[in-house]
Amino acid sequence: MRLLIVGALEGYLTKASSVARARGCQIHHVDEPSSALEMLRGDVAFDLVLIDDQCDIPSFGRALSEERIAVTFVACGLGADAKHAVAAIKGGAAEYLPLPPDPDIIASLLESAVEDRNSMIYRSDAMTKVIATADKIASSDASVLILGESGTGKEVIARHIHSHSKRKGKAFIAVNCAAIPETLLESELFGHERGAFSGAIARRFGKFEQASGGTLLLDEISEMDIGLQAKLLRAIQEREIDRLGGSSPIKVNVRILATSNRDLRAMCAEGRFREDLYFRLNVVSLTLPPLRERRGDIALLAQHFARKYTEEDDLPPRSFSQDALDFLEEQDWHGNIRELENATHRAVLLSEGSSLDAQGFANTTSQRGNANGSADSLQASAPDNSKKSIGKNNGKETSDGRSDTDDGGSNLATIEREAVLRTITSSQGNYEQAASILGISIRMLRMKLNRYANEGHSIPQHSHSGSR
Ligand SMILES: Nc1ncnc2c1ncn2[C@@H]1O[C@H](COP(=O)(O)OP(=O)(O)OP(=O)(O)O)[C@@H](O)[C@H]1O
Ligand SMILES: [Mg+2]
Repeated sequence: MRLLIVGALEGYLTKASSVARARGCQIHHVDEPSSALEMLRGDVAFDLVLIDDQCDIPSFGRALSEERIAVTFVACGLGADAKHAVAAIKGGAAEYLPLPPDPDIIASLLESAVEDRNSMIYRSDAMTKVIATADKIASSDASVLILGESGTGKEVIARHIHSHSKRKGKAFIAVNCAAIPETLLESELFGHERGAFSGAIARRFGKFEQASGGTLLLDEISEMDIGLQAKLLRAIQEREIDRLGGSSPIKVNVRILATSNRDLRAMCAEGRFREDLYFRLNVVSLTLPPLRERRGDIALLAQHFARKYTEEDDLPPRSFSQDALDFLEEQDWHGNIRELENATHRAVLLSEGSSLDAQGFANTTSQRGNANGSADSLQASAPDNSKKSIGKNNGKETSDGRSDTDDGGSNLATIEREAVLRTITSSQGNYEQAASILGISIRMLRMKLNRYANEGHSIPQHSHSGSR
């Protein structure tokens, strides 16, 4: 991954860089935000920017948004100054990292910018077939449409295809079409010329050019605006793109992979997705089966995640009791592998002994929420409610973050509060990690913490919350 450091970081630059370099990061350093902007407009993509809070962060944030550059940036400064932190966040920084930089925090910032999505764990027949097809088509330049429910591993398999293709030495660039505002997506993909719009003060390369020779993953393509779909179709068909405001087309050599968890064919029928684009993308399609249709992978994945998190969190190894494995294999996992991963991480953190048992999972998995496994509600419910109910929470959350099914009264609220606070402590104050373990959004976590603070409870210090 590529990291761009801006400014002197109060003299802690060497330390921050060596931590990042040790994680296999390529580092570029510039002194001024203006040089950073120049780099960000170039034909090399960056995953993360660390910027010294001595720089003018609000104007850097403004420049990024005016120039329609979507990159995560984290402000760094001498931590005690809350005003600076607030100004940085208001200025668009994803996080405020106190200096001197804690190596663990830098490491987890980098990790959350580019999670390790390379290892594919499977043994079920269903997945073995999908991987065999993926390997067969990896070396061609054909576009691939990767379909599957949320959390089934669409991005993992896209990376797998890239790393088994002849483009593997070149860039793999992923663009999440749902996460980038519609107004930014076009310039994100195709770049722009100076003067293309009022904030366009210089030429900027888009992802198509940055991915040149390599692979471009268009994640959640169904969310792309229909007007932009036409331009994408032209880019794929003609193998050339037009920068916004550009006068002549530019040749590009990019292999396209696209993912969707929606029924694109139905969207075509409804006129919400261009059929010609659908056929272009769908030269080959791979459909990842939901976890409930490959139960044979569950134990293997759970053991993999338990190992991963005990190592990462520096905890003693945990084994699984047979009843825990039976329990996990019986669940429906509507949030698929991501949900299983979070449940395992939670169980690892909350378990007392060296063995993970069914009860530990039942207590935590019963708190899962909606059907995509990213629920905004955390409810402690009795274990027997939980059977086969993961991801099927009917309780709605009210705007203050309380659940309207919290009829267990204050007891339940106490259990919830304790679980939330304990998870934050175990995550060393990393709110994003804690929210992910709890299966709630960061917004919901902050709402809950505000409520606890207002009720007079002490809240563990926030170290950072990742970069996304
Ligand atoms: N076969 C696998 N082996 C190990 N980990 C996996 C596997 N498949 C997915 N994962 C993990 O599960 C999580 C979800 O995977 P991924 O992001 O690829 O899913 P997705 O289908 O793109 O989800 P979404 O639709 O929500 O974007 C990631 O943390 C990923 O590392
Ligand atoms: Mg994805």
